[in-house]
Amino acid sequence: MKLLVINGPNLNLLGVREPDLYGSRTYPDLVRHCAETAASCGVEIETRQTNHEGTIVDWIQESRGEFDAIILNAAAYTHTSVAILDAIKAVKARVAEVHLTDPASREGFRRVSYVGMVAEKTFSGLGFGSYTAAILHFAGKDI
Ligand code: DQA
Repeated sequence: MKLLVINGPNLNLLGVREPDLYGSRTYPDLVRHCAETAASCGVEIETRQTNHEGTIVDWIQESRGEFDAIILNAAAYTHTSVAILDAIKAVKARVAEVHLTDPASREGFRRVSYVGMVAEKTFSGLGFGSYTAAILHFAGKDI
C-alpha cells in the first residue's frame, strides 16, 4: 500500500496559523507524524503541500498507477473546488478526506465539501489524529 498525502493552502503555516484552532505543532511535525504512523503500519507514504489548486489537480491525476490511495486535506479548496472533485472522479482515485478541525462546526461556508462528495471516508476534528485515522483506514486497521 502506497499512500500520497496532499495538503492544500496555508497548511505550510501550521504552528503559526491560528494556533487556537490548528495547534502549535508545525508542518514538518505533521510530515514526521505521517511518516512514523505509516512506518508503524507497514505502508509507504509521501507527504506534499501546495498553495495552488491546479497543482492539487496535477498531483491527483499523476497519482494514477503510482499510489494506491490519497489522503487529502484540500484546506479551503475543499469548500470551493469542482476541479478537484472532477480530478478525483476522472482517475477514480481512492480518497480519504481529512481536516485538523471539524469544518461542519465552524462557519456556514465550510459545511459544503466537494471532496467529501467523492471521498470514501472523512476524518475531521482530531488534529494530527485525523491523518492517523486515514492511514489506519487504508492500512486496513480501522478503529
Ligand atoms: C482545514 C479546514 C478548512 O475549512 C480550512 O480552510 C483549512 C484547514 C482543516 O484542516 O481543519 O485551511 O482543512
